[in-house]
Amino acid sequence: MELRNLPGLLLFSVLILGSTLLSTSEKPVGYEVYEGKEQITTNTPVRITPLRHPEKVDSVLALMTLEEKVGQLNLLSSGFAETGPTLSEEYREMIGEAKLGGVFNAHTVEHTLDLQRIAVEETRLGIPLLFAFDVIHGHRTIFPVPLAEASTWDPDLIKKASRIAAKESAAAGLHWTFTPMLDVSPDPRWGRIVESSGEDPLLNKRFGVARIEGFQGDDLYELDTIMATAKHFAAYGAAEAGRDYNTVDISERTLREIHLPAFKAAVDADVRTFMTAFNEYDGVPATGSDYLFNKILRDDWGFDGFVITDYTAIMEMIPHGYARDEAHAGELALNANVDMDMMSNIFLNELPGLVESGRVSEEQVDMAVSRILDMKFELGLFDDPYRYSDYDREAETIMRQDFLDFALEVAEKSIVLLKNENNLLPLSDSAKNIAIIGPLGDNQYDVMGSWSAAGESSDNVSLLAGLRNAVPEGTNIQFSEGVPLSLDDHSADGIDEAVNLAAESDVVILALGEGRHMSGEAASRTTLNLPGAQQDLLEAVHATGTPVVMVLMAGRPLDINWANENVGAIVNAFYLGTRTGDAIASVLYGNHNPSGKLTFSWPYTVGQIPNVYYQKKTGRPIDPDQRYTSKFIDAPNDPLFPFGYGLSYTSFDYSNLTLSETEISRDGHLTISVDVTNSGDFAGHEIVQLYTRKMVASVTQPVRLLRDFEKIFLEPGETKTVEFTLNASQLTYLDQQLNPVLEPGIVKVFVGPNVSETMENELEIIQ
Ligand code: NOJ
Repeated sequence: MELRNLPGLLLFSVLILGSTLLSTSEKPVGYEVYEGKEQITTNTPVRITPLRHPEKVDSVLALMTLEEKVGQLNLLSSGFAETGPTLSEEYREMIGEAKLGGVFNAHTVEHTLDLQRIAVEETRLGIPLLFAFDVIHGHRTIFPVPLAEASTWDPDLIKKASRIAAKESAAAGLHWTFTPMLDVSPDPRWGRIVESSGEDPLLNKRFGVARIEGFQGDDLYELDTIMATAKHFAAYGAAEAGRDYNTVDISERTLREIHLPAFKAAVDADVRTFMTAFNEYDGVPATGSDYLFNKILRDDWGFDGFVITDYTAIMEMIPHGYARDEAHAGELALNANVDMDMMSNIFLNELPGLVESGRVSEEQVDMAVSRILDMKFELGLFDDPYRYSDYDREAETIMRQDFLDFALEVAEKSIVLLKNENNLLPLSDSAKNIAIIGPLGDNQYDVMGSWSAAGESSDNVSLLAGLRNAVPEGTNIQFSEGVPLSLDDHSADGIDEAVNLAAESDVVILALGEGRHMSGEAASRTTLNLPGAQQDLLEAVHATGTPVVMVLMAGRPLDINWANENVGAIVNAFYLGTRTGDAIASVLYGNHNPSGKLTFSWPYTVGQIPNVYYQKKTGRPIDPDQRYTSKFIDAPNDPLFPFGYGLSYTSFDYSNLTLSETEISRDGHLTISVDVTNSGDFAGHEIVQLYTRKMVASVTQPVRLLRDFEKIFLEPGETKTVEFTLNASQLTYLDQQLNPVLEPGIVKVFVGPNVSETMENELEIIQ
């Protein structure tokens, strides 16, 4: 009888007999690196990590040839066609030859069933494939981009959005998403800031965990949960000059204090996979980094899932100048305990020879295969390889009405109101003639932002369509594009028409910003200007004298100083996904009172970057009257809008900042409370933020660090007391030897609506 014809469970109960359990003790395995005549021997022990289904995994492993094993370590991509994903003939043959462990960019029940059948029916062992996709902010129902979602400061909300994305993607045959991106992003020139939760380590951590919990749920065996991926390990967001894939050269202190905490939290949240970063850290490409993967991830943190490389990242160690050739690259990656190769085909082609020559051990290969098989068991694929691919479930689940309703709620809560002079917003019903002007005014494509998975433009509500649905009866809305949405097309032919429309309207909604591919991967910029001729359009429309509400859509902060000085209102909408127009209309008409706050410092000018809020004070703090102090002579030090900033249609007053203790020991804690009153006319949410600063320490400390936050809802006139519990352990920092420490001394405590407008108090850490 052929094994492939056995139903999964039965197969494995048979296979379990006689299987060899992997050793659980660490065993050093030598391998050799030859550089010319010089021979360096590196003893890299295999990191034996615990398996969740050890007997089952070993029973399969025992049957596999080395070629079949390395096939499991290979991940290739489906292509895109008008009709949906397709797989090339070459890759289909590879599945049949057991040369793939999974396929990414593979989704839809039809496509996944098709590929899974090849794996199950045409290979000797019938080991099922994993199907993966970049479901970053929604599968078909598209939620706001991650940077926008983070502006809600509401991780529970985003956990629910991730649950929905998991339900949809799992119903489309998927087992695995390459999210969350946990790269702290201090530099908005870097296009991938849009995929992050901004510049702050705590927010990246909280949102990362929320996304992992949302996608993975409580039990990966459930049919509406899929594996998450913590990416990109590590420090990818620190690319020099914000140029994507560029060198990272930061101190180990910065690595550990700023870039690693979210990844550590991901391990603690039981994320099942990690992805390597493209960049090097301290001269070593991440994908071959013994330090990052063996030392930190496996030894120190005990990560027991599997590690996938980023796209061709093993091969890229050659142009990095780190690996001599493909075999060497494969050796370095596998010995760093990187388990799966995305798109390089190097593990597949090189590992058999490397095992034969002893440069990698078969035990190391076995460990990598085991980790991947373990997850296939965890997902139930050996019980039924087709269990995720069910036509009925797909039809019932994709774009459910409750998902669309929730996408609207998230979109509304992601919007950040940056300016609202003389209460121009919310719009009054007396504005009978409304002009929507700008290249993003009637756009259904770009509003999805970077990574739109299975999103389709035709599903998305444009700003024009959303406003048409929302305006009071008798309102006349007209649209003029004005200028194209392009970085290099400066055509201004449409400006006259737009100006005429503005001149005869009561108010202009001016929708400006970037196209969706101007941020995201490989979309770094050296200026943050409004692309193309949009600044000309802005100035021309403003010159008509008609009040202007600028709605900005972009994946990063743009240079909007001119607009900030001249237009009446600025609404930062990022990319809001499927319900874009409905959400913006709801805010413009006051049906939703905006509450989003920035999770990055909005630069005044690109030359300030990096300008994160958690700076040091320096020995010559800025003094406008003293030349020789730390400042620019042609621009302020401060950002245009500080971290944590965002307006509401109401106002909030802070009072009574109180500390339950003024002295705490290093293992103590205290309660910090503050009264917040809604002193305006609208009910609304406020995000109350807690920062601290250790005034003197053996290693200088940032002027502020976010320690906690709480989002509250207040009716007009209502006051709530917000309480934060602060444990002294939250205040530790790394000493000169990089050990966690909390030295005695004064800690200032700041509470407020953003990092720059805070009340303060202080406490003392005692022995
Ligand atoms: C490259 C990107 O860096 C990564 O984030 C993504 O998951 C992979 N491509 C797969 O699409």
